[in-house]
Amino acid sequence: MSYPTAVRLFEVGARDGLQNEKQQVPTHIKVELIERLVDAGVKAIETGSYVSPKWVPQMADTADVMTKLTRKDDVTYAVLTPNMKGYEGAAASDADEIEIFSAASELFNQKNINCSIAESLERFQPVTKAAQRDGKPYRASVSCALGSPFGDEITPEAVADVCQKLLEMGSYEISIADTIGVGTPLKTKRVIEAVSKVVPIEQIGVHFHDTYGQALANYLAALEMGITRMDSSVAGLGGCPYAPGATGNVATEDVVYMLEGMGIDSGIDLKKLIKTAWFISDFLGRPPVSSVARALKDKLN
Ligand code: HMG
Ligand code: MG
Repeated sequence: MSYPTAVRLFEVGARDGLQNEKQQVPTHIKVELIERLVDAGVKAIETGSYVSPKWVPQMADTADVMTKLTRKDDVTYAVLTPNMKGYEGAAASDADEIEIFSAASELFNQKNINCSIAESLERFQPVTKAAQRDGKPYRASVSCALGSPFGDEITPEAVADVCQKLLEMGSYEISIADTIGVGTPLKTKRVIEAVSKVVPIEQIGVHFHDTYGQALANYLAALEMGITRMDSSVAGLGGCPYAPGATGNVATEDVVYMLEGMGIDSGIDLKKLIKTAWFISDFLGRPPVSSVARALKDKLN
């Protein structure tokens, strides 16, 4: 078994992590969270979403977050854009890249972005054209790739079909999302295998929520398949407001600890990361979900 020597971690804590929080997190806390994560070595980070504030009120200040951030040249600051209005926001704030998002579940897609899968792909056409015109890279996410919160069956072939279409639209990465964290390692491998028939393995990413405690095992399975692109969320924050029961993404601290133990480089300073996990968790008034952040809290100096 051979593993990659390095992994590109995409930090989603400030977007996926916070979008489901009921209490409005002040802009300055979001800015400090992002800057601390970057200081810990994060090189690619979602800073927010240009979505309807009626649908996701927590992300309503994304433009403000983008304005107030002190940015570093070697870091990618990315935002979610569901349509042209979202793209205009992303362009106005000079986001380095954007993310378009669809799903393998029709029911979920309707609840999440109020249209069918086919309609969402249509909606992304002008978005991707504009991004190409502006020289902005974009990645694409496919929700419910390992299961749907609404009980509809998701086959690996159906996942691969959406992935292929998003690749053909010019996405540099296709992120397979386990929105409700129900996947297990062999199922993960089966889905990656199906997707890898239509998307080069180096362009496939994984974005797994940890609702059933399987995400780390599934990331190990993904590493074994040659995947080097992984999303994670500081402190294990997260959940999608339109996926009932979904909890946070796999915690970045847990992923970095596992990678370090395997000799795989993530470029992230684990101590600084754990301090950041406690910074946001203290603000939210609950400990991090991450086992590593809790185990190492008192051993940081
Ligand atoms: P809609 O109601 O069908 O949109 O929502 P519409 O085009 O009919 O517009 C209705 C209103 O929304 C109008 O305002 C528009 O201006 C406004 P009004 O005239 O009523 O005042 N609007 C917008 N405002 C700001 N930004 C925009 C925008 N677009 C329209 N971009 C829409 C369609 C897509 C907007 C809505 O469904 C939406 O915002 N959905 C986003 C849901 C969301 O953010 N979900 C969480 C992120 S995805 C996720 O977490 C999954 C992921 O992590 C992977 C995984 O784990 O599975 C990525
Ligand atoms: Mg997610």
